[in-house]
Amino acid sequence: MSTPYQDATLPIEERVQDLLSRMTLAEKIGQLCQTPMLEFEANREAYLEGVRQGRWGSRILADTAWAGNAPGLTVDPSTLNEIQRVAVEESRLGIPLIVARDVIYGQQTVLPIPLAQAASWNPQLVQEAYRGIAREAASLGIHWTFAPMLDIVRDPRWGRVIESSGEDPYLSSQFARAVVNGFQGESLSDAESLLACAKHFVGYGAAEGGRDYDTTEITDNTLHNVYLPPFKAALEAGVGSLMSGFNDLGGEPVSGSRRLIRGWLKESQGFDGLVVSDWGSISDLAYFGVSRDAAGAAAMALKAGVDMAMTNEAYEDHLANLLDAGDIDIEAINDSVCRVLRAKFRVGLFESPYVDEQRHLDVMRREDHVAMAQHLAEQSMVLLKNRQQTLPLVRTGLKVAVIGPHAHSKRQHLGSWCLDGKAEDVTSIYEGLIAAAPELEILTEPADFSDDMVECARRADVVILCVGESHRRTGEARNIAELALPAGQEQLITAIGKTGKPLVVVQCGGRPIPSPAAEQYADALLFAWQAGTETGHAVARILLGYVSPSGRLPITMPRTTGQVPIYYGRKPIGKMRDFQDYQPYKDESAEPLYPFGFGLTYSQFSYKNLHLSHQQLDSSENLSVTFELTNEGAVTATEVAQCYVRLPVAETTRPTRELKDFARITLKPGETRTITLQISPEKRTYFALGKQQDFDGQLEVFVGGDCNAKLQGLCELPPGREWHAPGQTGCADHWL
Ligand code: NOJ
Repeated sequence: MSTPYQDATLPIEERVQDLLSRMTLAEKIGQLCQTPMLEFEANREAYLEGVRQGRWGSRILADTAWAGNAPGLTVDPSTLNEIQRVAVEESRLGIPLIVARDVIYGQQTVLPIPLAQAASWNPQLVQEAYRGIAREAASLGIHWTFAPMLDIVRDPRWGRVIESSGEDPYLSSQFARAVVNGFQGESLSDAESLLACAKHFVGYGAAEGGRDYDTTEITDNTLHNVYLPPFKAALEAGVGSLMSGFNDLGGEPVSGSRRLIRGWLKESQGFDGLVVSDWGSISDLAYFGVSRDAAGAAAMALKAGVDMAMTNEAYEDHLANLLDAGDIDIEAINDSVCRVLRAKFRVGLFESPYVDEQRHLDVMRREDHVAMAQHLAEQSMVLLKNRQQTLPLVRTGLKVAVIGPHAHSKRQHLGSWCLDGKAEDVTSIYEGLIAAAPELEILTEPADFSDDMVECARRADVVILCVGESHRRTGEARNIAELALPAGQEQLITAIGKTGKPLVVVQCGGRPIPSPAAEQYADALLFAWQAGTETGHAVARILLGYVSPSGRLPITMPRTTGQVPIYYGRKPIGKMRDFQDYQPYKDESAEPLYPFGFGLTYSQFSYKNLHLSHQQLDSSENLSVTFELTNEGAVTATEVAQCYVRLPVAETTRPTRELKDFARITLKPGETRTITLQISPEKRTYFALGKQQDFDGQLEVFVGGDCNAKLQGLCELPPGREWHAPGQTGCADHWL
């Protein structure tokens, strides 16, 4: 071993400090800078010279801020090795680059979009599926991904709702853990692991009006009870990095928020990993008018605790001058450098900087990755309607028309944040049906003329009409004002519906969109989302009854756009007691079209005999919620049993329902099983009036198949405590 920092037997902290002590200021600043891809493509020699001089610590394999919307580059392991070789063998200290790419929900095997994954209510499967995605991405030389996105979304007009786990902090927290564990594996230094990045810290999903990048206004109460919990869950799972968001949060753009980043995240939660800015979110501080210019923005972000600038110029152009002028101090730079180096050591980059250039050939679309993607696609689809058991279809003797804008679509099922998935790897719904049921007579109409489709429908015994959004209408900066199907599709559903043929509507897309025509005419409605490369197989297997649908809505389906924001965990509406007949709208129901947690199966389930482990509970005891679940139908099916609570009296107003636990349970026809869900002490706390505290007083408990769960119990909690243990406080006092 030539230097201690290269000695893998030494603790990481010693190696970090040793390396830091050898670095010049320029080399330190270099570690805080992430360059985009174009700089290499544009001028190879100049780029390599920059790497040789240690000017940059990281590269992002993307060519624009909206990488997901503009995939233009493929990842080439030999190019990455060539660049890395210069960093490792020709730079003064041999510090490897950390290579980042937005591997959001797939590499070549593409999973359903995260919102659909959340509809599976199966974090364990999601974790396993992400191991495969990490393996594929890592085999190309990618070390770092910018996922999971942990923004809570209560306005589905926002295009990035696709990347979220929906509206609920508890459900989102389960998926936060699952994705972090899936990407990072047992060990970050494993050649099949990626460094995960929880984003966008924090509140970006609350953009006013669902307009991407717009202002967010979140009270402290809501921030701590709703928006921060998924980040806490990711931290508990050991996430190695976080990304600071684009948003202005109540007058304080988060990428310049010392209170939130240095205060809450680093000091109060003890996070010792790396914070990277979002693309240009440092210079945005000047645009927002909270700093005079780009230099002021750089100073503000560094002081706030943003360790690395995406993209490089934000720090590269200013930090040295700012230090000279005394506007920042070297401790802040050193702290950030240590965080970058720590991440690189944890990833194992110093020991294994290069990628095996052939490995990806054995790894891409490996059989187990594809199988996992298919299971997840099947489990994510939500059956919203099934009149007179239209589904499942009988598998023989039927003439089935498979028509509509999504009958043959492929690329659309990959969603918008997919850089490396290939349309040719996608099985369309039409192809999926043919593969799953060769004995069916399948009619189709490739052309998009509605008259032709109506004729095709008339010739069939049953119609599968595949409608929905294109991926181009979802994702970053792709918001919609009206939650409605794209132009012409309501009319198409109506025209087909009027043929009187049994009608199954398969709705694809990236957000909950109500369809009045499907409500009126569809006999069955399957919400298929953007379900990745295996979409067609999954849809076919559900429609044909090879599997019973088991997805549940992770986000409320509104009746109209005017109801937004609408989510189950809302606070009591004032004056409801005085005006019994009060309705929030004169022209619309207060109820959603389909509630959070809802989804049908090909069977029916009953819940009975709720038993709580305690009538009175100590603050350190687990509350076990036990009940009997019976499959009352004729087929094996999977129920997602859900447990909600309500705290009738608290220090501040609380949601009328809060999800606390859930389980997927598969039962045979007639089978009954005793199920126990848990409400641990950690789940019985909330943030109120500046501190984290225990639930106390009465606790109402509900169990059932969606957020309107009916089976009910009651328990008495002891007087509450305020939490002051590290990691449990809302924020260290001096940061408030
Ligand atoms: C901007 C997006 O907001 C962020 O989520 C993404 O990771 C970066 N661009 C990099 O592509």
